[in-house]
Amino acid sequence: MAETLTINKNQSKAGIYEDILPQIQSIISGEQNLIANLANIAAILNEAFAHLWTGFYLKEGAALVLGPFQGPLACTRIPVEPTPRGVCGVAAATKQTQLVPDVNQFQGHIACSSRSRSEIVVPLVYDGETKLVLDIDSEFLESFDRVDQHYLEKVITIIMNHHYGF
Ligand code: SME
Repeated sequence: MAETLTINKNQSKAGIYEDILPQIQSIISGEQNLIANLANIAAILNEAFAHLWTGFYLKEGAALVLGPFQGPLACTRIPVEPTPRGVCGVAAATKQTQLVPDVNQFQGHIACSSRSRSEIVVPLVYDGETKLVLDIDSEFLESFDRVDQHYLEKVITIIMNHHYGF
């Protein structure tokens, strides 16, 4: 089934998130395949904000493995245990959102793309375990703030509630 997005970009960032949240909910509501849903969510976020890289890594054993994304070629596998690597690894290990205004100030940042300047990574934690992370990278410094954190955590909650049980 073809899907159409309606996004009014002439409004605040919060307004754009308010536009897309119900559409994310609606698009995934008829599908139970996690990868298919993550692929469409990456596409929606990319359509809305067009950051450098928007996508998911899925936790598999001691590492994060590349999932659906939009953007340039990315690292395939990121260690989480015993020593987390990069912003994604730290988000997965600490189970906390990482808001990084300047990636060059983040010790251990993985430069998958030398164009990346700032980043936000939100983990999905179910039953005390990180199951996946949503990673968004920007070419500009300080692209992300508490507004992004607030709404991207809502996106993660929508995914968790829909794929309850993992
Ligand atoms: N920059 C990330 C790695 C993943 S990508 O850039 C797509 C990090 O440090 O976790």
